[in-house]
Amino acid sequence: MKKTKFKKKILCIGAGYVGAPSMVMIACKCPDYKVTVVDINPQRIAAWNSGQLPVYEPGLEKIVNKTRGRNLFFSTDIENQIAENDIIFVCVNTPTKTFGAGAGQAADLQYWEKTARQILEYSQSSKIVIEKSTLPIKTALAMERILTSGKGDITFDVLSNPEFMAEGTAMNDLENPDRVLIGSRETKSGLAAREELVEIYSRWVPAEKIITSNIWSAELSKLVANAFLAQRVSSINSISALCEKADADISEVARAVGTDSRIGSKFLRAGIGFGGSCFKKDILNLVYLCRFYSLPEVADYWESVVKINEYQQDRFIANVLQSMFNTLAGKKICVLGFAFKADTADTRESPAINITRKLLAEHAEVVISDPKALDNAAIDLDGAEGQISYVEDPYRAAGGCHALVIMTDWDLYRKLDYGKIYRSMVKPAFIFDGRNIIDHRKCFEIGFNVFPIGKPPLTRL
Ligand code: NAD
Ligand code: UGA
Repeated sequence: MKKTKFKKKILCIGAGYVGAPSMVMIACKCPDYKVTVVDINPQRIAAWNSGQLPVYEPGLEKIVNKTRGRNLFFSTDIENQIAENDIIFVCVNTPTKTFGAGAGQAADLQYWEKTARQILEYSQSSKIVIEKSTLPIKTALAMERILTSGKGDITFDVLSNPEFMAEGTAMNDLENPDRVLIGSRETKSGLAAREELVEIYSRWVPAEKIITSNIWSAELSKLVANAFLAQRVSSINSISALCEKADADISEVARAVGTDSRIGSKFLRAGIGFGGSCFKKDILNLVYLCRFYSLPEVADYWESVVKINEYQQDRFIANVLQSMFNTLAGKKICVLGFAFKADTADTRESPAINITRKLLAEHAEVVISDPKALDNAAIDLDGAEGQISYVEDPYRAAGGCHALVIMTDWDLYRKLDYGKIYRSMVKPAFIFDGRNIIDHRKCFEIGFNVFPIGKPPLTRL
């Protein structure tokens, strides 16, 4: 038999925003393990093997350069890699279903099921299969049923190990997680499989942060964690609407509320609403599950989190229109930031997409600026009708515009020379700060009419 220099061989199916960075961290922390990441998308794999990584994440490139070719490998050879590896993470995409039963809410499990069938087809020995994708509760049962549907004495233990990292801080989140959650069957082999995974994380995660649970609890906890986080954002955003009516300041309210240690200060930043590939999809998935289990009141409760998110964006655009004398036609608006949050090029479900489309619908001319996300912005807006241009330099982007609309909390936008920008704009000049990140008083003193979220506007009109 061929001798291998590695103690363990780990495979991850799905080289996306989660699969690749989480395997990069395992490869970094476990140099004696061979970690391979496969994907059906050859361009993505080529990019992971190149100097131009397909995901922008602070700190990622450095660790990829340290591990790639040493014990970290990217490949399209799914068939052989499944055969060769004993521990397989599944990290394929699980978007919202767009067709058939449950369209618009349920998770589309076609990529996940295809993967399960590939694992069954190419396995020649027993495996531990780990769900890292976010999945509806009881998916592990379906996974087990597919995997036990015809391989004789080969066995498969399915674990749930949902990922809690956030984009933009992924490497830190992976290195110093609040917790690692591992759900398993409580059978002898289920518990043994769980121990194998605990052993991997124990290389760098303190024992008290590695939580084990039953497999359904692990699957559900991931959906619930995202729902709770998104709920906080919608809660503070709903109160921002009240602040604007009643002359209160949302930052002061958030500080006063968040200093209660039972509530905590995180995820209380009011803004244009949450984006990203997961919050909306995971809440809608939870809503669908509640309806499926005949819990309509619970479903309605969680659905309201998404409704408030949409309301916040509708409110924002209505405010832009009303403040700019009820017409945007022919006016040039600079959208500062297109990523769904700072420090990522990801624009999935970014509020900027919706806001830009609404500006275009009012026949505004839109100039989009972002330090990392312009390529994705152009893809998102492909086919959108109206005048759009893409300019990375915020000073050039703002020149000749009637208004700035801040969509992403890039640190860069806090530090711009707003005096210089003001001088280059059409007067009266407006700033709509969808993230509450700039110094509103200072910008008002420069000459801008300033419209924050959840605070009284500073305007001379
Ligand atoms: P992604 O779209 O970036 O990556 C998924 C990858 O899977 C794609 O590259 C796709 O080509 C590949 N793929 C699909 N079917 C395949 C198959 N049969 N064989 C091989 N590869 C296949 O998605 P993502 O953002 O990495 O999310 C993946 C999962 O992780 C989702 O369930 C998501 O909810 C969850 N999650 C995402 C985040 C995040 O921050 N993005 C955080 C935690 C959990
Ligand atoms: C989120 C969760 O934070 C992760 O734990 C989870 O693993 C991930 O979803 C996932 O399952 O995909 P992510 O979407 O990358 O991570 O980023 P967040 O930092 O959660 O921000 C989500 C959105 O909420 C962003 O648009 C952000 O700007 C917005 N947000 C966040 C606010 O508007 N206010 C806040 O106070 C916090």
